[in-house]
Amino acid sequence: MLKIGIVGMGVIGTAIAKAASGDLAGVELAGVTVRDPAKAGGFPACPLDELLQKSDLIVEAATQAALREFGPAVLRAGKHLMVLSVGGLVGVLGEWARLAEQHHCRILVPSGAIAGLDGVKGAREGRIDTVTMETRKPPRGLAGAPYIETQRIDLDAITKETLIFEGPATEAVKAFPANVNVVAALSLAGIGPERTRIRLFAVPGQQRNQHRITVDGEFGRLTIEVENVPSENPRTGKLSYLSAIAMLRELGAPLRVG
Ligand SMILES: NC(=O)c1ccc[n+]([C@@H]2O[C@H](COP(=O)([O-])OP(=O)(O)OC[C@H]3O[C@@H](n4cnc5c(N)ncnc54)[C@H](O)[C@@H]3O)[C@@H](O)[C@H]2O)c1
Repeated sequence: MLKIGIVGMGVIGTAIAKAASGDLAGVELAGVTVRDPAKAGGFPACPLDELLQKSDLIVEAATQAALREFGPAVLRAGKHLMVLSVGGLVGVLGEWARLAEQHHCRILVPSGAIAGLDGVKGAREGRIDTVTMETRKPPRGLAGAPYIETQRIDLDAITKETLIFEGPATEAVKAFPANVNVVAALSLAGIGPERTRIRLFAVPGQQRNQHRITVDGEFGRLTIEVENVPSENPRTGKLSYLSAIAMLRELGAPLRVG
């Protein structure tokens, strides 16, 4: 049995906790760690050091800032770390990967809100020339992001499709820490965060979060398009937690596909 502990019980953490307490063969829920006790949702809650002792794998489903705070402690304890706030890995991955090696554990990044990372990884074995991503979200899905605040962008005043941000993944994950984890995951599967570029649009009236990825290289061209139905959290699509649940299911199963 793979015992999993979850840090952060919002939309993603709660969905994973329910799945891990249900029909995920080979996986059981050891417990959860929350900041606000009301968020535990009836699942057994405990402080992080206790959760580390009880778990083989910690799922981070909180924030980039929380990940940066507790990630090294998880790896030093020799526990696997599944990361949802993937942007938080940008800039520290080299150091954390060395910690994981030293302590015989792994850092796991599910595809999250996108698909096709298997193809990107295949392409990386050859030469990749460019990786670009275009993301279109309803304006309310960007509310509260540091870039929106510092640039004083009035999301309510947007009446037509508007390019809000363009740049490399390194900058995007700081500008939109809760909105563009997908570009961080894409960059880790491909040519790294400096060379992976994103164009982020706000589209009034759009109901879904849309990601369109284009990878060009010696293999040819790969185009991936996903339209995500938002969960109760408008920034988080349902596929985000479904893909994490699928990864946990595969960790406990005899067959791995893709
Ligand atoms: N990889 C992806 O494709 C993808 C997709 C969507 C969201 N995300 C990211 O996953 C994370 C979780 O998303 P969500 O939609 O569940 O968010 P959410 O806001 O619904 O839930 C996050 C929860 O974490 C809690 N939290 C914050 N800091 C904590 C800490 N130090 N200890 C314990 N709990 C803490 C918050 O109180 C909140 O309950 C976010 O960082 C989000 O940006 C990733």
